[in-house]
Amino acid sequence: MTPVLQARALRVNYGPAVAVAGVDLSIGSGEVVGVVGASGSGKTTLLHCLSGLLTADSGSVHFRDRPIEDMTERQRDELRRSHFGFVFQFGDLVPELTLVENVSLPLRLQGVRAARARERAAEQLEALGIGHLGPRTVGEVSGGELQRAAIARAVVHRPDVVFADEPTGALDDRNSEAVFELLLQQARTNGAAVVLVTHDRHLAARTDRTVVLANGRVVGAGAEVEAG
Ligand SMILES: Nc1ncnc2c1ncn2[C@@H]1O[C@H](COP(=O)(O)OP(=O)(O)O)[C@@H](O)[C@H]1O
Ligand SMILES: [Mg+2]
Repeated sequence: MTPVLQARALRVNYGPAVAVAGVDLSIGSGEVVGVVGASGSGKTTLLHCLSGLLTADSGSVHFRDRPIEDMTERQRDELRRSHFGFVFQFGDLVPELTLVENVSLPLRLQGVRAARARERAAEQLEALGIGHLGPRTVGEVSGGELQRAAIARAVVHRPDVVFADEPTGALDDRNSEAVFELLLQQARTNGAAVVLVTHDRHLAARTDRTVVLANGRVVGAGAEVEAG
């Protein structure tokens, strides 16, 4: 089967420093891939390349059979809006808006009318167990609830790939577990590929496959990376 994302020989330099030093990676639909490694090992940079936020200095990233470095900036924007979803460590929702409004945004960017977007956003919050929080603003919910809302926003448009960069990094164990389960659910029920960067080896061990980075290189990979 054609992978949904495929990186070949990716390299990113920041001046003399090498952040990503030749990474090959292939990700299939419905697959949950954990990316682990020490701080500074290149996880975020790799994620940015895979999602087209950053163009690598060399190598390529294909989304299905399309090389994203050959796309125009506009085509890459369109790719991200339509096919990708993003979750960050601190959720990064718009503070002035309610959760429903936040979750509506990706749909609005795709041209979905306001009323329909709100309706779908409310359904998505409901599906993630926080439907009752829809009318609250970002400042009126807990960190764990906020991160669930961030997942709702990342998946409301049914993306092919969900990129999550340390989404549980600011959460306690119970909330980390809930967020992890929701990400798994996206893969299992919607067939999304999930790329999960995490410091948490216990969570990483429960992904389908783990990629271990050190100094911008893949130094380990497999389903059997030990929790520890
Ligand atoms: N914008 C940048 N400018 C210069 N160096 C950077 C920049 N972003 C990241 N780096 C460096 O690249 C390396 C990889 O960083 P990063 O991808 O953020 O690692 P991780 O997410 O694993 O902590 C680090 O050495 C970091 O200092
Ligand atoms: Mg990082």
